[in-house]
Amino acid sequence: MDLTGQAVIVTGSSSGIGEAVAHRLAALGAGIVVNSATSVEAGEAVAAALPDAVYVQGDISDPATASALVGAAEQRWGRLDGLVNNAGVTVDVPLADVDAVRPEHWDRVLRTNVVGTFLVSQAALPLLREAPDGWITSITSIAGIRQTGSSLPYAVSKAALDHMTTLLAKHAGDGVRVNAVAPGLVATPWTEDWDALKAGVEAGAPLHRVATADDVAEACLAFVATRYATGQTLLVDGGLGLVI
Ligand SMILES: NC(=O)c1ccc[n+]([C@@H]2O[C@H](COP(=O)([O-])OP(=O)(O)OC[C@H]3O[C@@H](n4cnc5c(N)ncnc54)[C@H](OP(=O)(O)O)[C@@H]3O)[C@@H](O)[C@H]2O)c1
Repeated sequence: MDLTGQAVIVTGSSSGIGEAVAHRLAALGAGIVVNSATSVEAGEAVAAALPDAVYVQGDISDPATASALVGAAEQRWGRLDGLVNNAGVTVDVPLADVDAVRPEHWDRVLRTNVVGTFLVSQAALPLLREAPDGWITSITSIAGIRQTGSSLPYAVSKAALDHMTTLLAKHAGDGVRVNAVAPGLVATPWTEDWDALKAGVEAGAPLHRVATADDVAEACLAFVATRYATGQTLLVDGGLGLVI
């Protein structure tokens, strides 16, 4: 696959999955808009390490971020070919602790994961429709598909994103493809201290290992290359969903 001359936005690409996706797309020739909300130095470092990239600081839950991201691509490359909706948050309330969930937990998680992702997608669509092969891929989660995850609002937000994927795929227009990659447990800064869960995956999941960020990036590239698929969520979980 050759993405030379193309431009892609990757939200939340200062670390983890987003960083890996940015590196893989850049290696295929794409120019990348790197983004993060608070880790500015890390985001600037990722952009500096890529052959052709620009860093944009911004929280995706802020409507101004959507236009800043798309504006950066337009200004630098005059086009936008792809969007990876990777930025996401959770709250520190165990999934099973239903009594502890508060309205502010819902506000934070849904505002970022669902509304923020929608706003960036909406802002990107006009340029994606002009691209010869425009696409959006969102990083969702096994938590949106099975009864697992880091918190109840998080799991619900990821299920909402999978459904949003189908709706945007139906209505994006002009051949823009919209898909989602739903990882299982991935070794990133987010899951740094999840030792017990990692041991559980290594012991019980059919592929007996936790995913790397690059495993998820590979699935994102598969959607770029699979030009006749839209509205799909690809579960990339090493078989974890088969055993929980
Ligand atoms: N790790 C897993 O096991 C796993 C499994 C399933 C799904 N996922 C999903 O994969 C995505 C990436 O997670 P990760 O594990 O790679 O986490 P990570 O290493 O902590 O990276 C998260 C990235 O998102 C950025 N970010 C967070 N909130 C943001 C916001 N409001 N606006 C813009 N950027 C924001 C972070 O930058 P700042 O720190 O500057 O905000 C960082 O660049 C998330 O959507 C997560 O739900 C992860």
